[in-house]
Amino acid sequence: MSKQLNLLISGRNREALEQLQEICDLPGFAVEIKHISNGHADPLYGVLEYPDILLFHMGQADLEELQCLVDRPAEARPPIVVVGPSGDTRLMRAAMKAGARDFLEDPANKDELQDALLQFQREQRQAGGARGGKLTAVVSAKGGAGASFLSVNLAHIMASRSHLETALVDLDLQFGSLAQYLDLHPESGLMRALDMADNLDAVAADACMAKHASALSLLAPLEDEIVLSRDVSPERLSRILELLKHNYDRVVVDLPRQIDELSAMVYEHADQVLLVMQQELACLRDGVRLRQLLTCELGVPTERIMVVVNRYDKDLPVEIKDICQSLNVDRSDVMVVPNHYRSVAESINVGIPMSDYAKSSSVTKSIVALEAMLGGQTSQDESAGIFSRTLQMMRG
Ligand SMILES: Nc1ncnc2c1ncn2[C@@H]1O[C@H](COP(=O)(O)OP(=O)(O)OP(=O)(O)O)[C@@H](O)[C@H]1O
Ligand SMILES: [Mg+2]
Repeated sequence: MSKQLNLLISGRNREALEQLQEICDLPGFAVEIKHISNGHADPLYGVLEYPDILLFHMGQADLEELQCLVDRPAEARPPIVVVGPSGDTRLMRAAMKAGARDFLEDPANKDELQDALLQFQREQRQAGGARGGKLTAVVSAKGGAGASFLSVNLAHIMASRSHLETALVDLDLQFGSLAQYLDLHPESGLMRALDMADNLDAVAADACMAKHASALSLLAPLEDEIVLSRDVSPERLSRILELLKHNYDRVVVDLPRQIDELSAMVYEHADQVLLVMQQELACLRDGVRLRQLLTCELGVPTERIMVVVNRYDKDLPVEIKDICQSLNVDRSDVMVVPNHYRSVAESINVGIPMSDYAKSSSVTKSIVALEAMLGGQTSQDESAGIFSRTLQMMRG
């Protein structure tokens, strides 16, 4: 499974290391500093787990440190980027001998250093080959049931807690809200990706996506774009989804509930469909209809459909067993997310996902459990605990 790339910044000048750390604060990188301050010159001395990449800050007198790297066997030497004094060919040659893939002049230019790291990240992704990402389509049985809220928070937990490379796609072409839920202001978006679909590669697709601090990537229509579904070619959207599944561990798609060529194509790519319900008779009726359309008309296998009862309240007259009966689903295929208007509304208003805004809220915990049920990486113990608590709450 993919994880963040571990970047170790090492050197003797603490202030310089801290400045580099700020520059290296990029999505997809976990950055640590190792200050060389004692008798050991080896930048990797005492490091138990080798980083994916080493950024070595070199002073005029630091030849010994470089020599330590040269002396290491190749398998104990991670890829190295050196930031060092300009114009000293002796040091540059030593850096080359140590196998450095890049030498940047001190003080490092922010854009140059970030470019070097992002290039390394791209190479790692390409070397890793296809990710075979799972696509989860999320749809509300009835308007306002919570598909957008759950899509955002599920994808955010996949990215931030499970450290999975996650893409979130907003296919509510006219009333998309995911960028707002994440307080993102994309400059390029879904329409641009669709325009380029025939020649789109991982780098170009990445450029069309807005990046959240959690490393979650969002592909959404721009706020001022008016898009009608008839303007979107299903073949092009299919090409984009294939690319995202290839490049990401998880793809979450927030779908409007109407069935048309576009949504049919998304269901075809979906490994899992989350049908979001609420405990209302009207929602029950629409949920039954939507599930029937998905299974009978579009051929979505029943085992791919999971029901989420959002805004769950045990005192409401429509109970979980009624939902199971009407939809003909096993109780084990139904998850619940409790109703907590205030924290949810606040999280949406400020554009901070629940896992950051209200970490210990019951809503966050139930979405963590949902993510674990969908094959996430969150601790089994944690999710088992949450799951049993949720069941207790339902029974209570
Ligand atoms: N678990 C919850 N507890 C309390 N309020 C919630 C919860 N989930 C969602 N809401 C509220 O419901 C509103 C609608 O949610 P959301 O936008 O996700 O629905 P939707 O199904 O995507 O709607 P649409 O059909 O318009 O796309 C949110 O603005 C939020 O205030
Ligand atoms: Mg929505």
